Amino acid sequence: MEKIYIRGGQPLAGVVAVGGSKNDSVAIMAGALLVPGKTILRNVPRIRDVETLLEIFRHLGVASRFREDGALEIDATELSTTETAHDLVRQMRASFNVLGALLARYGHAEVAMPGGCDIGARPVNFHIKGLQHLGCRLRLEHGIYFGEVKRFVGANLSLEFPSAGATQHLMIAACRARGRTVIENCAVEPEIVNLAEFLNACGAHIRGAGTSTITIEGVEELHPTEFNVLPDRLQAGTYAVAAAITGGDVLIRHAVAAHSRPVLAKLQEAGIEVETAGDGIRVRRVLPRIRPTDIKTMPHPGFPTDMQQPFAALLTLAEGVSMITETVYESRFRYTTELEKLGADIRVEGRTAKITGVERLTGAPVTCTDLRGGAAVVVAALAAEGETEISGLEHLDRGYENLVAQLRGLGAHILRSSEKRAAGGLRVCSA
Ligand code: EPU
Repeated sequence: MEKIYIRGGQPLAGVVAVGGSKNDSVAIMAGALLVPGKTILRNVPRIRDVETLLEIFRHLGVASRFREDGALEIDATELSTTETAHDLVRQMRASFNVLGALLARYGHAEVAMPGGCDIGARPVNFHIKGLQHLGCRLRLEHGIYFGEVKRFVGANLSLEFPSAGATQHLMIAACRARGRTVIENCAVEPEIVNLAEFLNACGAHIRGAGTSTITIEGVEELHPTEFNVLPDRLQAGTYAVAAAITGGDVLIRHAVAAHSRPVLAKLQEAGIEVETAGDGIRVRRVLPRIRPTDIKTMPHPGFPTDMQQPFAALLTLAEGVSMITETVYESRFRYTTELEKLGADIRVEGRTAKITGVERLTGAPVTCTDLRGGAAVVVAALAAEGETEISGLEHLDRGYENLVAQLRGLGAHILRSSEKRAAGGLRVCSA
């Protein structure tokens, strides 16, 4: 089993460049299925979720390739089937958005209930209700949704919760609907705005993305375009926390401050210096200890649930007690037992975690419980004394591109087992 080995205690220093966003890429890729022809996407990360979605596309008869210049080319000129590869769909969450795209383009589709990180129930009822309001017939049999629609018809939709996935899915579905669709109480994340910009660049008419009401005037046809995926704000946040927890000084290039305001504000509250610099953000800790701070996760523009986990790792070393309240998912605290193995003092009750800061963490074998839980154990291990052995890398590989090499570039003593074997079993930085 592949593992990561980290010998902690090294302050991170230098420059790291943030790659393209996972969540933006997979949403735009689903949108690209609407478009006959070759869509070119720049800045798509080479991560497991992207590969899984491309494999789903391959089964649909959609060819794709990463060109020499790094851009991803998706050729959705004609699909050979609208039945998706169910086992692949079950490996990730955003694969479900393929349903709306296939229905909009071909009028029928078969898509399994999606998977994704195990962080709560994660139903798809908002997606289903929305698609049904747009005129589609859907039945669920043996975990597979079978959908049929002659053509989507615009409607007024209101989400019970500003779900990122449902907002993206319904935007994609409504692009080629007959008439106007209005989605109220929708999500306002940067990835929603970028998906709307991508679809508009393909000829869609979408207004209001980034506000709580999105209006979509259906169009007859879409055409291919070239488009840039956003820098990954969660990767940027993870590097920021890694710099902070190790007492480091790191310039995170391509990080967009406007996409990460609540995270940067909480870092400052914890006593970390944050400044925008060049085309990025510089994060530096000069104080010997981190200050405790309370966090409540909220839909964007609140504190992102995806950063709750790495941030909790940071607060394990604060001088005092911090409270974290998770309002988006009902069980996103599984990783805390892994942090406890490193010496953290965390008590979880329902949706709240009480973190009593300790003076030091010490290395131990731990596992990644999910993607961001994996990020939490990595950043904690960077600050822990001695060696930490991390398993469960399939979660981390879903969303972080070149994490080990990037952290090593900042001075971290970190290796993957494949590298360790190649180095003849060398211990992680025995120097
Ligand atoms: N929800 C429902 N019904 C639905 C859809 C959502 O009850 O039909 C609930 C969810 O169970 C959750 C809340 O609404 O409690 C918010 O879910 P949302 O739909 O916004 O999440 P998502 O679209 O499934 C995306 C990201 C997640 C991120 C959330 C929240 C992707 C591929 N995933 O998921 O990212 O946590 O938004 O910001 O975009 C991650 O990157 O680690 C990750 C889990």
